[in-house]
Amino acid sequence: MPSRLVAWDRLVRYIPSSGEAEIRYGEPLLEKDSDVDSIAQLAQDGKLQVKMLEGQDIWSARPTDRVETVGQLLGPLEAGTVPIIRCIGLNYKTHILETGRPLPTCPTVFTKPSPSVADHGEDIPIPKIAQEQCDYEGELVVLIGKDAKNVSATDALQYVAGYTAGNDVSARDWQREVGKAGPVPQWTFSKSFDKYAPLGPCLVASHVLGDAHGLSLKTFVNGELRQNTNTSDLCFGVAKLVEFCSQGQTLQKGSLIMTGTPGGVGLFMKPQAFLKDGDLVEVEIGKIGRVSNHMKFE
Ligand SMILES: *[C@@H]1O[C@H](CO)[C@@H](O)[C@H](O)[C@H]1NC(C)=O
Ligand SMILES: *[C@@H]1O[C@H](CO)[C@@H](O)[C@H](O)[C@H]1NC(C)=O
Repeated sequence: MPSRLVAWDRLVRYIPSSGEAEIRYGEPLLEKDSDVDSIAQLAQDGKLQVKMLEGQDIWSARPTDRVETVGQLLGPLEAGTVPIIRCIGLNYKTHILETGRPLPTCPTVFTKPSPSVADHGEDIPIPKIAQEQCDYEGELVVLIGKDAKNVSATDALQYVAGYTAGNDVSARDWQREVGKAGPVPQWTFSKSFDKYAPLGPCLVASHVLGDAHGLSLKTFVNGELRQNTNTSDLCFGVAKLVEFCSQGQTLQKGSLIMTGTPGGVGLFMKPQAFLKDGDLVEVEIGKIGRVSNHMKFE
């Protein structure tokens, strides 16, 4: 198990039910570990209790003895605290082989900027230019806990603070169509709109989840199961990704790695099934929980 980079096992960001407007951090009080899978539901039902954490940010947050009930569950990370998100293209073996491609020798990396971070439960604004081919990608998200440069896979987990679930919202036409993306696909512009990376519902520390191997990952659109895999099918696992991405470049504390998506995105459905105004996308990872967001066409 990696060493502890944070004082909590699981962290949520929330507004308390007491009516106090302040946003706080808390550690969910769960009867059993598997209850973490339903914390979003518990919060919605007004039944999520937390031990309040004290501190300026997720790094200094320490448990207190004060217990309170969550009024509104937010995402665990604020945009301003995430310097950048590195994202990995196509990274599930079964899906890569399915598309007829050989397994890659190196990961494909692109980025999403800080303002793409959004909360659990928040509407995702889809701008006019991105409404034709709006798509989802359910992903395991890695939180870097201290600056990492040229780190080996063996040491990598010492730099990982924890994990959450995320949706790499994407405008496929701006990613792939020659008239928009240009002659080669482009990832960054098409995936960098404000709030195109909803995260949550909680952070789970790496001293609890290790390398996040063997977790189920499912994406639902309006309740219909679209993506269904297991993180043990990742082509490049968490340690390998930290090793690769940190070569000659600093992975800043607080930055994220979105580890890639499995098969089942709307683009490759037959017929294609892009997201519409009001659609609810939920990404559920075992032992982390389910992050839910409605798409709101502007
Ligand atoms: C990079 O890290 C590897 C493995 O940890 C080490 O062998 C190598 O010397 C390092 N290179 C530089 C330039 O620091
Ligand atoms: C994921 O796969 C691993 C190994 O292949 C297995 O041990 C684990 O039980 C699976 N997890 C789920 C949630 O299916």
